[in-house]
Amino acid sequence: MSSEIITTLNARLSEEIVAIIQYTTHSACAENWGLPILAKYLMDTAKVEMGHSHELMDRIFALDEVPVVTLGEVKIGKDVKEIVHLSAEAEEEAIEHYNESIIQAHDLKDNSSKKIFESNELDEQKHYDFWEAEEYKIDQMGLELFLSTLI
Ligand SMILES: [Fe+2]
Ligand SMILES: [Fe+2]
Repeated sequence: MSSEIITTLNARLSEEIVAIIQYTTHSACAENWGLPILAKYLMDTAKVEMGHSHELMDRIFALDEVPVVTLGEVKIGKDVKEIVHLSAEAEEEAIEHYNESIIQAHDLKDNSSKKIFESNELDEQKHYDFWEAEEYKIDQMGLELFLSTLI
């Protein structure tokens, strides 16, 4: 298998690890601010990202390689509005990167990697839709009313 796909698998893995750190930290923030519903959603999402990272690592192991994680910037929001925005932004980027990876895996005829990228991309799409809807609610309801729905 080409080293190109290993580089891509490691790049997506590194982004998933950053997402896990970001969601886990944001979950702790939400918990601390007395927002258990948001805290739970953030933690549940971190677990989905953990599943993605395992899929990517299993594929790397199947190709007789060892995962190489290079951590990018972990962006932590200072309030709920920022958390929602940063989450939407991260998911949008994840979708873009997975779509590029799907094309690359297709070109390299690596169907197993392609399937993992596709499956992860579908989850990121769901995550993005959720955060996009939350951003819309904040805009429409105002932050105070929105927060009252999260208690
Ligand atoms: Fe993910
Ligand atoms: Fe996600």
